[in-house]
Amino acid sequence: MSDDALSNLLHEDRTFPPDPAFEKRANVKPDVYEEATISRTAFWEEQARRLAWDTGWDQVLDWSDAPFARWFVGGRLNVAVNCVDRHVAAGLGNRTALIFEAESGDTQEITYAHLQDMVCQAANALTGLGVVAGDRVAIYLPMIPQAIVAMLACARIGAPHSVVFAGFSAEALRSRINDAEAKVVITADGQFRRGSTLPLKAAVDEAVSHTPSVETVLVVRRTGDDVTWDPERDVWWHEVVDTASPEHEAQAFPAEHPLFILYTSGTTGTPKGILHTSGGYLTQTAWTHWAVFDLKAESDVYWCTADIGWVTGHSYIVYGPLANGVTQVIYEGTPDTPHKARWWEIVQKHRVTLLYTAPTAIRTFMKWGERLPDDYDLSSLRLLGSVGEPINPEAWMWYRRGIGGDTCPIVDTWWQTETGAIMISPLPGVTAPKPGSAMTPLPGISAAVVDDHGAPVAPGNGGYLVLQQPWPAMLRGIWGNKQRYIDTYWSRWPDVYFAGDGAKLDEDSNIWVLGRVDDVMNVSGHRISTTEVESALVSHPAVAEAAVVGAADDMTGQGIVAFVILRGDNTGGEELITELRGHVAHEIGPIAKPRQIMIVPELPKTRSGKIMRRLLRDVAEQRDLGDVTTLADPTVMNLISQGLAAAPGDDA
Ligand code: PRX
Repeated sequence: MSDDALSNLLHEDRTFPPDPAFEKRANVKPDVYEEATISRTAFWEEQARRLAWDTGWDQVLDWSDAPFARWFVGGRLNVAVNCVDRHVAAGLGNRTALIFEAESGDTQEITYAHLQDMVCQAANALTGLGVVAGDRVAIYLPMIPQAIVAMLACARIGAPHSVVFAGFSAEALRSRINDAEAKVVITADGQFRRGSTLPLKAAVDEAVSHTPSVETVLVVRRTGDDVTWDPERDVWWHEVVDTASPEHEAQAFPAEHPLFILYTSGTTGTPKGILHTSGGYLTQTAWTHWAVFDLKAESDVYWCTADIGWVTGHSYIVYGPLANGVTQVIYEGTPDTPHKARWWEIVQKHRVTLLYTAPTAIRTFMKWGERLPDDYDLSSLRLLGSVGEPINPEAWMWYRRGIGGDTCPIVDTWWQTETGAIMISPLPGVTAPKPGSAMTPLPGISAAVVDDHGAPVAPGNGGYLVLQQPWPAMLRGIWGNKQRYIDTYWSRWPDVYFAGDGAKLDEDSNIWVLGRVDDVMNVSGHRISTTEVESALVSHPAVAEAAVVGAADDMTGQGIVAFVILRGDNTGGEELITELRGHVAHEIGPIAKPRQIMIVPELPKTRSGKIMRRLLRDVAEQRDLGDVTTLADPTVMNLISQGLAAAPGDDA
């Protein structure tokens, strides 16, 4: 965030008290905070009763092996049954679960009864392919109903899934499959993107040529494009799933049975496999989805615009909403296909009442034309959510006025892949939010802003965001690396979880999340580590050394800017820069493509050899340079300034 944007943000003190009519009908009442303060565990225990358990728990929380938590110890449940079957059993089989909006405009409605059949068929098919409880299944699919069915089928048979965003490269997929040692990969022939098709199976073919654990690739036919086929390894979804029996007896698993692994970027070059388990995760995702979105399952139409490849898709498309028996829209395509008001057309068409999206999307719509949504009837909307990055007050205000008719409450929800569920957010009908602040921790959650020594800061001061008490949906570790979990999250200060974010506490003790303070960038709400992009760059033969920083970007929050030293005789030029950007896209995925690559003769380093990213950020953001006296060679910055060769921006 630029200094200007930051100071605007911190001077924002308008509040938006709840509308009395909304307040009257709101799911939560103000006393919920007090109730949770009296006993945090009793509060979560009460929320766990929202789910159907085959066996009750003996202990709500076991924290004796901290920081490894166990929630609802002794309890047993089946997550998929909770998300699907129990609604059918309660007589809601005819309720629409998914309204699938294809990019082409075709719509398919899937009821809970139909979803149950599909999940059971997929569970039977996976069992037939030799998948047993505990085996890992990788899912690399576009936003189509089969993606949700595949996740639920894995949950049903106790096989943890590892969903890999379909925009990631073959290389990124390969490393995630190998880390989790997945037995099966579920993918599609391709996906629709802006009116044409993009292959997916080809990336899987490339990835699985180096993944010894993979026995089967299960392929959904989506685009109908030709694919290469290995008859020993590949099977069609329509041949093994659609023909399988819809009868499947679900087994209950312990509350701590692994539900999924989701890879996310950290400060090193290797993504971390964040592990989530069943009972606590489902309790918190279900409760927060009900409370934060004020969900009225019998009448709301909910739409979360995330992709299932990210944690938002896991927690607030699949698990939380379906556990609550929601009716929701899922959209396959891009916001500008076939026109820039497609989302508003979808809201109008399906009478969406609750919309959950990211600030980058909101800013993009503002750029496309603040009046574009005016041509659509958005009067069905009654609540708006934001997630993934700080929302600037201008975007907040436009979201409220331009989309929410100046009446919808906005919930700015702070959480992470690691937290599994929303942690800090206004509660609609209770909180009077300030535009740009995520406000206060939810009931049952404890968060604080602390200084360098780990002491809570006084109102009006900035510091680091930490979580002091275990919470039900918390990560249970990093797949295959116990120590990395302790080192990454629990080592900075004793007994607190450090989220990696900087934050400010305002005079009223509301939390303003300012963004990452580590080497993780946030580009359009997606986490990318500087080291990952650096590793991708130095894997190109022309590159000797690379340093990457996230520079403030009006549209995407941060943009990736790379400083590159070339090897030997390479002289740079437009062509090489284009090639390097393409190389990063190939190694990681198009989302990691640097906005700008600057060829430089040297990098600014301290005497101990550490790259001074702060100075590079100053260059990238075209600011006057800060203090250069700690550099081993202070003249380096002159060399950099003189030798800069910037490539044109491109947000692809
Ligand atoms: O920096 C914070 C930012 O996104 C990071 C988590 O990214 P990820 O694990 O990919 O999950 C994103 C979706 C939950 C956080 O460390 N972030 C997330 N939500 C907000 C936010 N920053 C400010 N305000 C938010 N509401």
